[in-house]
Amino acid sequence: MKVPFLDLKAINLEDYKEISQAVDEVITSGWYILGDKCKQFEQNFANYCGTKHCIGVANGLDALILILRAYKELGLIHDNDEVIVPANTYIASILAVSANNLKPVLVEPDINNYLIDVNKIEAAITPKTKAIMVVHLYGQITPMTKIWELAKKYNLKVIEDSAQSHGAYYGDKRCGNLSDASGFSFYPGKNLGALGDAGAITTNDETLALHVRALANYGSEIKYKNMYKGINSRIDEIQAAVLDVKLKKLDVDTQKRRAIAKIYREQISNPEITLPQVANGEDSHVWHVFVVRSHNRDEFQKYLIEHGIGTIIHYPIPPHKQAAYKELVHLSLPISEKIHQEVISIPISHVQSLQQTEYVINIINKFKASEMSSPTLIRDPS
Ligand SMILES: Cc1ncc(COP(=O)(O)O)c(C=O)c1O
Repeated sequence: MKVPFLDLKAINLEDYKEISQAVDEVITSGWYILGDKCKQFEQNFANYCGTKHCIGVANGLDALILILRAYKELGLIHDNDEVIVPANTYIASILAVSANNLKPVLVEPDINNYLIDVNKIEAAITPKTKAIMVVHLYGQITPMTKIWELAKKYNLKVIEDSAQSHGAYYGDKRCGNLSDASGFSFYPGKNLGALGDAGAITTNDETLALHVRALANYGSEIKYKNMYKGINSRIDEIQAAVLDVKLKKLDVDTQKRRAIAKIYREQISNPEITLPQVANGEDSHVWHVFVVRSHNRDEFQKYLIEHGIGTIIHYPIPPHKQAAYKELVHLSLPISEKIHQEVISIPISHVQSLQQTEYVINIINKFKASEMSSPTLIRDPS
């Protein structure tokens, strides 16, 4: 049997009729940028997240860049100020900070849930700190209560990187509505994925929404009048139309992912494999990826490939070890490094059959490392 890591073709063919009809409507409308489809999707996504505003942009990285840029234009954040970000994240979260000439301050993750360790943030706050960017990594919401307390105490902005967590709840609110502003990615492989690049910003702050919208449109609120040296970062009508179709069934798709995650967590029983933990209740995780850990990750991955099971490593090199961030290379972030050495994502998607899920479990449970494991010794106080 073959179990692809993510069968994007099957995912999009599932809604083929509705998607092609929506695309057809755009083609025949004669209006391709900032039209009715964009307005409609922005409204529907804002309603879905529970926020007052949603601004469609070109991709998730731009969404995060634009939020910070808007705070700079509003005079709330200045060049060389510090933004706290998780050390264990996709590099885009950190790129958004440095792209704005701000300093990313990396905080170690919690080894149990891979999210920023909220108990280590306060020690990283300095007079230069202006914001905390949380990343709801792998689809799981960061424990926000502590973040809100710190933000209040130190007068910080909170920004969510929700690129991987569409629809996840913290208490009775969804991500995108848990902070001052949130960036979403609709990259094709995301839980809500377009047929190309797309992203969005959600916020309840009207002033921020206006500034972000202008900055994403050449810095212009009124055509040919430019308040700022902005950029061109807009969601196009075709992507907005596709996303609007897929948004309607996102919660149903998420429930299917949750069902697979539940079976994996109940039935994968190989002591060589560490399973993911859920920090804040089942609704707080949308399982963008199902990440397990193995001390023999490379051997485990090879074994899965030999058995027809696709995997991806999220992520193989921590941001502070990337050539792009030479200024961060001196940092000692052992927990993040351990995670990067050991994680591997196994297949999960709403089009995955029960048979495929059972096959993956069966193969994983039979895995036996050929060599003695050599775990990186980490003493984590938590
Ligand atoms: C956590 C995180 N933040 C930001 C991004 C950037 O999104 P995009 O690829 O749409 O620019 C991604 C995309 O993979 C991501 O996973």
